[in-house]
Amino acid sequence: QPIYLNDYRPPAYRVTHTELKFDLVSSATRVIARLHLERHPERQEGELPLVLDGEQLRLLHIAIDGQALEDDEYDVNESHLTVYRVPSTFVLDTEVEVDPEANTALEGLYLSNGMFCTQCEAEGFRRITFYPDRPDVMATFSTTVIGDKGSLPVLLSNGNPVEQGDLPNGKHFVTWDDPHPKPCYLFALVAGDLQKVEDHFTTMSGRDVTLQLWVEEENLSKTDHAMASLKRAMKWDEETYGREYDLDRFMIVAVNDFNMGAMENKGLNIFNSAAVLTHPQTATDATFQRVEGIVAHEYFHNWSGNRVTCRDWFQLSLKEGFTVFRDQCFSADTNSAPVKRIEDVSFFRTAQFAEDAGPTAHPVQPDHYIEIGNFYTLTIYEKGAEIVRMLRNLLGWEAFRQGSDLYFQRYDGQAVTIEDFVECMAEVSGLDLGQFMRWYFQAGTPEIDAIGEYDYAKGEYRLTLRQRTPPTPDQHEKLPLHIPVRMGLVGTKSGKDLSMTLEGESLGTDAVIHLRDEEQEFVFTDIAEAPVPSLLRGFSAPVKLRFPYGREDLAFLLQHDSDGFNRWDSGQRLALLALDDLIAAHRNGVEKVMDSRVTEAFRGLLTTDTDDKAVLAEMLTLPSEAYIAEQQPVVDVDAIHAARTFVKQALALALRDEFMAVYRANQSDAPYVPEPRQIAQRSLKNVALSYLMAIEDEEAVELARNQFEDGHNMTDVRTALTLLTHSSRGDIADPALKAFGEKWAHDPLVMDQWFSIQVTRPQSDALERVKFLMDHPAFSLTNPNKVRALIGAFAGQNRVNFHRADGEGYRLLADVVIELNKLNPEIAARIITPLTRWQRFDESRQALMKAELERIRAEELSSNVYEVIEKALATA
Ligand code: ARG
Ligand code: ZN
Repeated sequence: QPIYLNDYRPPAYRVTHTELKFDLVSSATRVIARLHLERHPERQEGELPLVLDGEQLRLLHIAIDGQALEDDEYDVNESHLTVYRVPSTFVLDTEVEVDPEANTALEGLYLSNGMFCTQCEAEGFRRITFYPDRPDVMATFSTTVIGDKGSLPVLLSNGNPVEQGDLPNGKHFVTWDDPHPKPCYLFALVAGDLQKVEDHFTTMSGRDVTLQLWVEEENLSKTDHAMASLKRAMKWDEETYGREYDLDRFMIVAVNDFNMGAMENKGLNIFNSAAVLTHPQTATDATFQRVEGIVAHEYFHNWSGNRVTCRDWFQLSLKEGFTVFRDQCFSADTNSAPVKRIEDVSFFRTAQFAEDAGPTAHPVQPDHYIEIGNFYTLTIYEKGAEIVRMLRNLLGWEAFRQGSDLYFQRYDGQAVTIEDFVECMAEVSGLDLGQFMRWYFQAGTPEIDAIGEYDYAKGEYRLTLRQRTPPTPDQHEKLPLHIPVRMGLVGTKSGKDLSMTLEGESLGTDAVIHLRDEEQEFVFTDIAEAPVPSLLRGFSAPVKLRFPYGREDLAFLLQHDSDGFNRWDSGQRLALLALDDLIAAHRNGVEKVMDSRVTEAFRGLLTTDTDDKAVLAEMLTLPSEAYIAEQQPVVDVDAIHAARTFVKQALALALRDEFMAVYRANQSDAPYVPEPRQIAQRSLKNVALSYLMAIEDEEAVELARNQFEDGHNMTDVRTALTLLTHSSRGDIADPALKAFGEKWAHDPLVMDQWFSIQVTRPQSDALERVKFLMDHPAFSLTNPNKVRALIGAFAGQNRVNFHRADGEGYRLLADVVIELNKLNPEIAARIITPLTRWQRFDESRQALMKAELERIRAEELSSNVYEVIEKALATA
């Protein structure tokens, strides 16, 4: 049954204070709750019963104001507890039993490696106790955790520890107080045999905060980077947003079994171990950067999410979009800003564009859902962040910061809406953001068709922009959006950005024009030389922009554009044009010929000195198969793979010496540090190696083999092992894989990488390897990281093999979904994504994919999988 935004009503009863007591036992934990409740002032006595959420709970006791209830005074079904009559202010006592051991869904209270932990967002708290499980009910919490002293020496919850002691039968307890009112989705409990690393942070007002990172003993050596990242994030949020931490301690716990990356529970963040643990020997540069970003993200939620939270789950992007934007800016400030933007946009344009064009497309503020767990999407997170970024750019940083201050001050301690946030921005700036709000309400990616014409005689450049958002499943009519287009006009003679004058107003050399209508013409006057337009600089809006660039234009922009992001993008566009020809050639069975303009552009890149090696590495990276597929009307996975492989080989053949020189120049024996300069050098070196390995000559294979054997950090070792495994040199790859698998058998995070490397190989045995590895002792269907590393990597990244013409890839994924549907519905509904994109493929693949979706539909489905399957088959 869908839930609608328009049906929102304030809660009939609110909780002012919550007291919890947990007696932790693996298969039968007792949860004793005392809720201090109040009727909403606008509700009459007896008007509404008290209805609390509760799932998979065994109710043992219930009393109101100390008076046990009779059987006919309340009702319990599989989702709710109803008490028919209650006073206007009262205390509700309940006692329930839950089974953490049987909890494979990893929502609510569950066991991971013998350790108790919780995940309550979005609706997991209802699996812990009966409660109004909605974010607009905010209470202070006092939590007593009782557990066996031997096996559970550490007992944690939100806030500050206020009391602890021993109990009979070898048990002990700790009581925690969280003085900040919070919704129950921010509740957390952890109990286990954990060790801590401790540090301190002095806040801007001079308060001392104890920082603790809790891990299993064998992971103590993997905590340095997360701790350092946390301190940087705390400082950054003070300096950038004026936000100070508000408790005496901040704790992070690493757990092995976790559905997502991490969770911002008040004062007690719980992390997927993959999102927090790092060591030079076990984690790649990319992981170091990801960990830094996620640690910051969860910390930033303390304000954007916790102090000010969401009124209902339709507002999820209020906290996620803003917080992603904040963590993106933090990472940009800490590392290379242009590279961060290139990475984020690359990812966005492949994955979010695909989501927005598929059957599960939804607005950033959805208006209905069946299962909120399905809405932790790229649209809510990343498109939400792009919208906040546009606001920052529309207002300018200073006004945006004022708007942010106003938002935090006005709504501190409240649960609010996306409209409230944007209203603060409108108020401080005086801007009319009415049309802009459509970004939140309309799903689908807007497409801009641009054309430009230079009039020599008049010295005018006419730019015409036409926008259109294609229909999405629930929205057939789309209205024009307010689209900020940052741009410049690059003079073809001077190679410089020209000064732009629009309607008599001088705009300088880099400006934002505002597209509001379906079609608008912009006439730039006093343009002395013919320009090539550089449009949508920095990806100033999350749109697809088409302009009929010639290849010379793109090669020109690649050299001369003053905007680093667009320089990179011109290279991508140029490569895409060449790839298009090759895809056509492949399909028509004619000989493939490499476009020499691409080769020359790459030669230029390889031989020009640059101090931004990280950007260079990005420039040398071809568009991914997934991004190429995004550009095709009907995706031909084999032709795309063949064309891209051909380009890599052709470039490597033509520029072998140049790549070799880059490789050698960037080799280094310096001890590993995850800092931007080193990371840049490693990425450049490894990009060069990937080209050299595309032709697999003896020298390249030797380089890769040596790098695998002598590499002293996981970035180098993993790249080498991947290139070998994805090459035809099984004679070298197989023993290397075996040695690696044995060396790291004890480390689950490295084994994840070992799985992924093997199942993403393009060779035709990949699917058989997946099946084989599913029986490996290190694999487990109940561990989400393993499922992602093996099944997710295969279905999401190994396009040629997942889309095998015999449909075996689809069958394998469907089999896994059917199993996971019973074990972990949230992961099942996520892993299914590649199958939902059937519309994009040829008829025979469409039929095979739909048949698998139908096969899943015939099962008894969780609401998560049901919602996705219904959407995916709705248009079939
Ligand atoms: N709020 C978390 C974050 O983005 C995500 C948690 C979502 N959890 C879930 N089971 N859907 O930081
Ligand atoms: Zn978040």
